[in-house]
Amino acid sequence: MATVTLAPMEGVVDVYMRDILTRIGGFDLCVSEFVRVSQNLFPASVFYNYCPELKQGGKTPAGVPVHVQIMGGEVQVMAENAAFVAELGAPGIDINFGCPAKTVNRHDAGATLLQWPDRLNMIVSAVRKAVPDTVPVSAKMRLGFSEKTLAMENALAIAEGGAGKLTVHARTKMEGYRPPAHWEYLRPIVERLDIPVVANGEIWTPDDYRNCRKVSGSEHVMIGRGVIARPSLGREIAAGRDNNTAQTAFDWIRILGLIAEYHHLIKAMNNPWRQAGRLKQWIKLLARSYEEAGPLFMAIRRFDNPHDILREVELTQERVQRAA
Ligand SMILES: Cc1cc2nc3c(=O)[nH]c(=O)nc-3n(C[C@H](O)[C@H](O)[C@H](O)COP(=O)(O)O)c2cc1C
Repeated sequence: MATVTLAPMEGVVDVYMRDILTRIGGFDLCVSEFVRVSQNLFPASVFYNYCPELKQGGKTPAGVPVHVQIMGGEVQVMAENAAFVAELGAPGIDINFGCPAKTVNRHDAGATLLQWPDRLNMIVSAVRKAVPDTVPVSAKMRLGFSEKTLAMENALAIAEGGAGKLTVHARTKMEGYRPPAHWEYLRPIVERLDIPVVANGEIWTPDDYRNCRKVSGSEHVMIGRGVIARPSLGREIAAGRDNNTAQTAFDWIRILGLIAEYHHLIKAMNNPWRQAGRLKQWIKLLARSYEEAGPLFMAIRRFDNPHDILREVELTQERVQRAA
């Protein structure tokens, strides 16, 4: 069946955001933010920090599994950490071959590795061997580092290494996050590999979802920024896929309620400055789908205290309700 996965997004899709978005619905799976493994076997606390759901059976409160993503270029260290996180109860392990960040690539991990298909193959097969058969191992890649010429070779290297699934963010590392996403490059990969290929990049609306499926030939998608900007997107897509009653995007008042709920959840961070940062970040991203989020962002952008942001959100709620 066609699946929808919530994308890993460092500093954005944390345990709280996964909770909110999977409760709204539509997602079959989440992937944690990447855990950068370089030299040692990490203690359990590191994995619990990135994926607190490990303490709750590896699922969000809504019951959606969270696979733990690891990133690194050292075959042995990757395998050891993967085995350990499987022991901690990870319902699946995803390997990141797509991260474009400079600090990461200078240290030889993420998308840099897309220049060497044999290295991808060695990492995937070592991780696959280190982890019990019952725990799925998947990988996420981009179409290439600077060129797309190795896309198929990389995909085959990952599949032959034993990955059970491959997500492809349809851009090269050099293309960063610049639109468009090149979904058409996925089709030959989807047709050639005998494992599921998940299409990723630039799905902002249910129409984008349908186009992505048509162009890529894949029935599986992963969505990142699109659902942060439009929190009902997973649910809208799932409703269309399952032929349920059509769903429309949430109205602004519902979104304001979600922001207040997020404010409440992230109190657990115990770091007002970071909490304020998360709230500002989300409100800014919401402006992509909700024009009302623009003025709200302008009103709160200098606030460093999450309570001040909440107060502005509540005032906005009152104004919207009065006007209705
Ligand atoms: C702020 C940010 C953080 C990200 N962190 C990760 C990460 O930890 N692991 C990963 O595989 N991809 C990461 N990505 C890439 C996304 O998972 C996704 O591939 C990309 O945003 C394209 O999909 P979208 O257009 O649906 O957002 C990140 C992207 C952004 C914008």
